[in-house]
Amino acid sequence: MTLQNIIANMLTRKNPDDALAAAKGGLEKTLGVWDLIILGVGAIIGSGIFAVVGIAAAGSADGTSPGAGPALIISMIVAAIACVFSALCYSEFATMIPVAGGAYTYTFATLGEFSAWLVGWILMLEYAIGFIAVACAWSNYFMQFLKGFGHILPACVVNPPIWLVSDFRNAVHSLTSQGIDYHTVIPYVCGIPICVNLPAMFMVLLSTLILIKGTKDSTKMAAIMVAVKLGVIGMFVLAGCFFIEPANWTPFAPNGFNGIFMGAFIIFFAYIGFDALATAAEECKNPQKDLPIGIIGSLLVTTIVYTLVALVLTGIYTTNKGSVDAAFLNAPMAFAITNVASGWVAKAIPGFISVGAIAGLTSVLLVMEMAATRILYAMSRDNFLPPVFQKLHPKFNTPHILTWTVGIISVFGTLTLDLNAAASLCNFGTFTSFIIVCVAILILRKIDPDRPRPFKVPFCPWFPLAGILCCGGLMVFSMVVAKGDSARLSTELFIAWIVMGALIYASYGYRMNRLAEKKDENKEIAEKDEHKVNI
Ligand code: ALA
Repeated sequence: MTLQNIIANMLTRKNPDDALAAAKGGLEKTLGVWDLIILGVGAIIGSGIFAVVGIAAAGSADGTSPGAGPALIISMIVAAIACVFSALCYSEFATMIPVAGGAYTYTFATLGEFSAWLVGWILMLEYAIGFIAVACAWSNYFMQFLKGFGHILPACVVNPPIWLVSDFRNAVHSLTSQGIDYHTVIPYVCGIPICVNLPAMFMVLLSTLILIKGTKDSTKMAAIMVAVKLGVIGMFVLAGCFFIEPANWTPFAPNGFNGIFMGAFIIFFAYIGFDALATAAEECKNPQKDLPIGIIGSLLVTTIVYTLVALVLTGIYTTNKGSVDAAFLNAPMAFAITNVASGWVAKAIPGFISVGAIAGLTSVLLVMEMAATRILYAMSRDNFLPPVFQKLHPKFNTPHILTWTVGIISVFGTLTLDLNAAASLCNFGTFTSFIIVCVAILILRKIDPDRPRPFKVPFCPWFPLAGILCCGGLMVFSMVVAKGDSARLSTELFIAWIVMGALIYASYGYRMNRLAEKKDENKEIAEKDEHKVNI
């Protein structure tokens, strides 16, 4: 085999019609437009607005990342604009090729086999690594919630040893910052430190079981979570309105453009999730009509909610005073309202916010795990992963072996993952996949202009180009402006992840695809021979 052949194989594109044919008789079609909006809002509103918004507004405690201050509302709008161009491109693709796999499937149709594998691999950063990170954040909020019941629950439940509710890295960091020698607290077995984040593991397994039972049930569950979190955020906004001090809004942008754009990069995490809807396209009853409404609608609802939170948060808390309260960064909304309110409002609202955060993170977890499994399902169908992952549950019709595999790997992930690096990695993965989807739209318009497009990105090529510019610009900007070890670590991990993906493709995916091609050729020859004999 010559190098030319190898390159040609790596660039082999999958005709969208083949992807549509392969999907026939696959996953059950249960999702309507409201299910999609609920899934979208469920996937989007989570740890971003309940936690990350603090750093975006006030900057990081170590000063390596400048905050936007009251201009947080501008950062949120910039991040939303960066998302909307990609959302339109996702909508065009999802209505044109409504099969499982999202950006992965679209790349296969435009940039070829190798790029498709890489995109699928990068999407695992967004969904699988994001899933693990959000599970760990869920665990923190859950423990905070239990503390509110300190007077009725046993002490061992409210204040368990840190090695039962945290990963090793965070446990060491937390103990060391309190001046405690971690060797005296964390138990060792055969020289191996034992740190298990039990609430995170429990949540990962619960989410896995719900997803195996079926997407329709997951949507019902997500609907409850969405109602709770929107109710809690609404309560914060309404209660907060009474305490707004317009003086807190000046100076409006204490760190200028650096603060605004760094804020936009950070708060981008809060918008991640609408793209997950495209991965569920195969399960939509009427994808051509419902998917664009679901994607754009959930992005619109979220942007309105976020800008209201930004206005109230920066109106009741001074985000431009130069120093940052650590408690504000952990739970910005709860801290800000406790700071200004008194009496029962100050006592009750932080508790409600914990409930909203737990609900918010639970629905994000469900959608992230669903998206990860649907992409891997599509990759297995394309011979990049063993065929056993395509097996559907006999009763629930969901890819149960694959879902269990993701669940079990994620349980191990909760033992080892550094949360900060995981969140940045998640952002890098998402920006890259958004850029690729915008590029892929431009390519497919060129190479397949006559394909029916039930939804078209307006002002093409300008909107896809604007998407590439916004996402690429924010990614490069964050690399230049953010200093410190965490930023360097996530850049290095991102590169290492891509190299690892290329190696796995070379040793498994490439070979399996050639074997599959050979099998198809042999089948074709046998069919022709049979035809001749019959004549
Ligand atoms: N947008 C999701 C969140 O904020 C990832 O948790």
